[in-house]
Amino acid sequence: MVGLPARGKTYVARKIARYLSWSGRRTRLFNAGDYRRVMLGAQHTHEFFSPENAEGKASRLAVAKAALDEMFKWLRLDGDVSIYDATNTTRARRDLIREQCESEGVRPLFVEIICTNEAEIEATIRETKVASPDYAFLSADEAVQDFRNRIAHYASAYEPVGEDEGDFIKYIDKGAKLILKNVHDDLGQQLVRFLLNLRGTRKSIWLTRHGESMWNRSNLIGGDPDLSPSGRIFADRLAEFVNEHEAMRDVVVWTSMLKRTIQTASKIARPQQVFHQLDEINAGICEGMSYADIRQKLPEEAVARARDKFRYRYPRGESYQDLIERVVPVVLAYEREPRPLLVVGHQAVLRVFYTYLMGASPEGCPHVSIPLHTLIELSPRIYDCSEERIALLQ
Ligand code: SIN
Repeated sequence: MVGLPARGKTYVARKIARYLSWSGRRTRLFNAGDYRRVMLGAQHTHEFFSPENAEGKASRLAVAKAALDEMFKWLRLDGDVSIYDATNTTRARRDLIREQCESEGVRPLFVEIICTNEAEIEATIRETKVASPDYAFLSADEAVQDFRNRIAHYASAYEPVGEDEGDFIKYIDKGAKLILKNVHDDLGQQLVRFLLNLRGTRKSIWLTRHGESMWNRSNLIGGDPDLSPSGRIFADRLAEFVNEHEAMRDVVVWTSMLKRTIQTASKIARPQQVFHQLDEINAGICEGMSYADIRQKLPEEAVARARDKFRYRYPRGESYQDLIERVVPVVLAYEREPRPLLVVGHQAVLRVFYTYLMGASPEGCPHVSIPLHTLIELSPRIYDCSEERIALLQ
C-alpha cells in the first residue's frame, strides 16, 4: 500500500485481504503501525514522524525492515499474497521494497490510495485515529490535532508513485477514478475488478433463507419447489418485519431465480432484483434425492462428501469451492451498492456469502449455521460487521 495517513489504506487493505482469502489465495496483512507499537511502544506524538527527526526516522526504518522481514518469511513458507500496509510515501522506501521483492522473486504491485475529499479525511481521523492506542493518553481533540500534524510531516515528504516505479494501481476517491500501469496477470486483474467495485459505502445487510419449501418437508435437496404452508407464513412475517422496520425503509431485495426465494420475497414492498448466481448449489445427479437416499444409493458419494464437504463436487453439479467463484458477481454488486440490502437465498449460497461478509475462513463455510425462518442482520463497523439473529418463526 502507498498513501498519506487517514486516506483509507487500512480499510482498503483489509477489504482486499478478505476478498483474496475468500477466493482461495493465502493472504496476510502486515501493518507497519502494529509493528511499531510492538517494537517501540504505543505512544508516539507527531514529532516522532517528522522527516527532520533523525532518531525517529532511523527507528521507523528499523520497524519497516522488521515488518518486511516477517512478510517475506511468511511468503516463503505459506503465503500467496502479502499486503504491506504502511504509508510507503517516499521513493526511497518503495525502492527498498521493490529491491527486496526482486531478490526474493516476489512480484511487487503498489496500490496507492488517494483521497481528495477533506471531509472524508476528517471523518477517518475522528473515527479511527482518536481510538488508536497511540493516543490513549490524549483527549479526542488533542489526538485529532496531533494526527493532523503527523499527516503534515508525511505530506512534506510525499512523493506519489511515479511512472518509472514499476506496476501500480492508483485508487482515487473511493474508486471514482482508477489509474493502472502494467496490471496484466491474473492476480492484478482480480484486484482491479475488485477495486473497480469497491465504493466504500457502509450499509447494513440482512440475510435469510427462503421459507420452508415442499421439498424441505420431505428432506429432498435441490429442485424448484413451491413454499409449504409454513414457508408462506414465514413470507408474511418477513414482509411485515421489513415493511415496519425503519432501518429497512430503503432496502433493496435480492433473490435467486428459484420459486422459493421469489415467493418468500413476494409481499415485501421494496425494489427487487433477481440474481441467478444466488441459486442454490447444484447437486447434479443428487437433485431430488434425500441425504438418506444418497447414503443408500450412492454410498461412495456420501463418504467423499463427508471427507471434504468444501471441495466435494456433486457428480455433474457443484462444490462449495465452485460456489465461491459463482458468487463473485454478487459480492462485487454488494461492494458497489450504496443502499442497504436484504438477500433472500439458499443455505449453501448464503453460507458462502456470509463467509465473505464476516471475513471467515472459506474452508469453514459448509459448516456455517444458516437456519430456516431466521433473519441474520449484519451491521457494518469500520473494519468488520456485528451480527444479530432474529427468529421470525419458531
Ligand atoms: C506507523 O508507524 O503508524 C506507520 C508507519 C508508516 O507506514 O509510515
